[in-house]
Amino acid sequence: MKITVPATSANIGPGFDSVGVAVSKYLVIDVLKEADAWFIEHDLGDIPSDGNNLLLTTALQVAPDLKPHRLKMTSDIPLARGLGSSSSVIVAGIELANQLADLNLTDDQKLDLATKIEGHPDNVAPAIFGNLVVASYVDQKVNSIVADFPETAFVAFIPNYELKTSDSRGVLPSTFDYKEAVAASSIANVAIAALLAGDMVKAGQAIESDFFHERYRQKLVKEFAQIKELSHKLGAYATYLSGAGPTVMTLLSEDKVADMMAQLESLKLDGQVVALAVDRKGVQVEKD
Ligand code: HSE
Repeated sequence: MKITVPATSANIGPGFDSVGVAVSKYLVIDVLKEADAWFIEHDLGDIPSDGNNLLLTTALQVAPDLKPHRLKMTSDIPLARGLGSSSSVIVAGIELANQLADLNLTDDQKLDLATKIEGHPDNVAPAIFGNLVVASYVDQKVNSIVADFPETAFVAFIPNYELKTSDSRGVLPSTFDYKEAVAASSIANVAIAALLAGDMVKAGQAIESDFFHERYRQKLVKEFAQIKELSHKLGAYATYLSGAGPTVMTLLSEDKVADMMAQLESLKLDGQVVALAVDRKGVQVEKD
């Protein structure tokens, strides 16, 4: 059996802790065979291969009596870069428990479990459903809507350094002025409405007008301003900080992708330039 989970890009400007889209990088878990103890083959660096791996702590939280297996984990989702790598592992762990213990979980049940573990739904929801997901998590209750992300290309700049979500959340204010909150949520409302209406020009303006997090976090990602300036020069829709950063995501029409990538490469920033597409499927299971 094989479980595949997409990467995700959360927040999309003003949708802080609430909005995310699944994108075309993937975590793949191959379930090889039963074993005496859990073991995960991987070459993903400094992460556990035993029951301490987030995949297995998650799976065993959902179904404590699972029989140990030998697994193989491969992934092209970089760690701590704002592309939902830990959320994809949590979603894979829930799916692993779902399959091995025959739990028949619905997608909404998977989302409840994943949100409780992750703390917010904006990465785990699109990792489960694919596409664009708008979700709230208040008083331990998740509410979500899945929608088609408009036909849009994504160009990601993935820096060669990590930014831990906890550090990136550490620069955010602990309170927010009432008037500012009303303005911030009106901007978020327009961003979502424009995405749902397929109006990428208006969506782009609202995405770049975020009040909730980017203004505080920009200083943590030194490449952000330069990439945004380039994307404006080329007529892209918007550039935003993906999740908690440091990946910088640009939304643009397909015909501008080659130019954006070439000019971004020529800036010689320390990182990778990658074209991504929307993943419209979310978590997938292939049985042998
Ligand atoms: N909404 C989260 C944040 C996503 O921006 O901190 C990363 O976990």
